[in-house]
Amino acid sequence: MTVYAIIGGTGLTQLEGLTIRQAQSMDTPYGAPSADIMRGEYAGREVLFLARHGQPHRIPPHQVNYRANLWALKQAGANAILAVNAVGGIHAAMGTGHFCVPHQIIDYTSGRAHTFYEGELEHVTHVDFSHPYDETLRGRLVAALAAEGCAYSGHGVYGCTQGPRLETVAEITRLERDGCDIVGMTGMPEAALARELALPYACLALVVNPAAGKSAALITMAEIERALNEGMGKVKAVLARVLAD
Ligand code: HPA
Repeated sequence: MTVYAIIGGTGLTQLEGLTIRQAQSMDTPYGAPSADIMRGEYAGREVLFLARHGQPHRIPPHQVNYRANLWALKQAGANAILAVNAVGGIHAAMGTGHFCVPHQIIDYTSGRAHTFYEGELEHVTHVDFSHPYDETLRGRLVAALAAEGCAYSGHGVYGCTQGPRLETVAEITRLERDGCDIVGMTGMPEAALARELALPYACLALVVNPAAGKSAALITMAEIERALNEGMGKVKAVLARVLAD
């Protein structure tokens, strides 16, 4: 049986409609996860929920303990991860309010604890990461987006930057040249750590602003918050549909 874990990003620190049966405070060899793991029922199905930035939202992208989060979710019984991420749009199709289910990711972060394979090891391990996202989960997200009538792209390359500052125009031009369609700060090392734990993982990205230089205006938090408020209803509907199927 699939036990989904939802990792909620900015704008999704709690999941209304989740009947919480247990708030599980966990510890891991890597420290504490961002928040208690909420175990409950959503859309008629058992689900786990974790607020990536803490509850309330207080942990910036570069300080999220991604290892503890993934480890705790696996310990709690998750065997499929749906990650929700707010992103900036680079490709012309990725306007504010558009959804993207990326199929590839490029990691531009630095200095994050990004692997479980370190310390005193018995042997060296290199996990295959050619296709970072699970195709079955991606397909479920795409089907749910279509059924909900959302504007979406079923493919895209996610460029993950270090943050917490936003990018320069030149950095976005470089990401675009590299083939990135969207830019965010939390896609990595989360996806890679899920792979190291053999946890199928997919990302539901909501575009909340045009990336730097992609509109004449500067990027404001007010604009991002507005887009998050407008988009989160759809995010919840999409997740509910995936879980109900
Ligand atoms: N850049 C990086 N991360 C983001 C952005 C952005 O423009 N918008 C939301 N998360």
